[in-house]
Amino acid sequence: MLTIALSKGRILKQTLPLLKKAGLEISDTELNSRKLILNTNFDTVKVIIIRASDVPIFVQHGAADMGIAGKDVLLEHGGSGLFELLDLGIAKCRLMVAASDKAKLKQNTLKIATKYIHSTQCYFAAKGTQIEVIKLYGAMELAPKVGLAHCIVDLVDTGNTLKANGLIAFEKIEDISSRLVVNSSAFKTKDTQIKAWIENIKKSL
Ligand code: ATP
Ligand code: PRP
Repeated sequence: MLTIALSKGRILKQTLPLLKKAGLEISDTELNSRKLILNTNFDTVKVIIIRASDVPIFVQHGAADMGIAGKDVLLEHGGSGLFELLDLGIAKCRLMVAASDKAKLKQNTLKIATKYIHSTQCYFAAKGTQIEVIKLYGAMELAPKVGLAHCIVDLVDTGNTLKANGLIAFEKIEDISSRLVVNSSAFKTKDTQIKAWIENIKKSL
């Protein structure tokens, strides 16, 4: 049996057509059910659909053999116990530093609102900038407006959200897309099955 963990939300919408092209299908009945472990058109493959940030945790601990998650989430997780094997090129965006104007970034201690704590700390440590990170779970763009932070670190795609909130992206931390990850033990014990699916998915990209 192979269990694949999929990120729900935005990534799922782009993952399902890709998996279908690779030959793996989940019926609408399964997708619309309240079940947490879903059947596929293969008796040997089950799918779990969970929060994006939980995907690497399930894969790390072997609760799922494979998973699909954004690079942003994988960077925060740190990658322990899993291999990142494929860039799926979906849900593309950029992890950026944004503020209302460039001068806001010049502080003795830069206050940054973000949910990307690890990436933010690594990026500013490398630059030698002293920071204070304020962990938020959403609506980061609000923080500079209400004086909670000097700037934010968040995902940017079209830039519409930043623009609507009077912010400008000044620095890019990372290009983001969704990746296929595999549990490091499963990669050895279920190698034939896993490699076959990776090949199918590769062809469907
Ligand atoms: P959670 O449910 O854990 O709070 P979330 O609300 O951030 O996660 P989504 O908005 O569906 O969930 O985003 C999931 C993933 O999609 C992100 O981790 C990132 O890789 C990608 N993503 C997020 N925003 C964008 C965007 N604007 N454009 C493209 N991809 C994005
Ligand atoms: C993401 C991200 C930004 C927005 C950027 O939010 O956190 O707010 O997309 O996209 P844009 O540059 O195309 O405007 P999302 O829509 O996923 O909402 P959430 O973070 O509140 O879940």
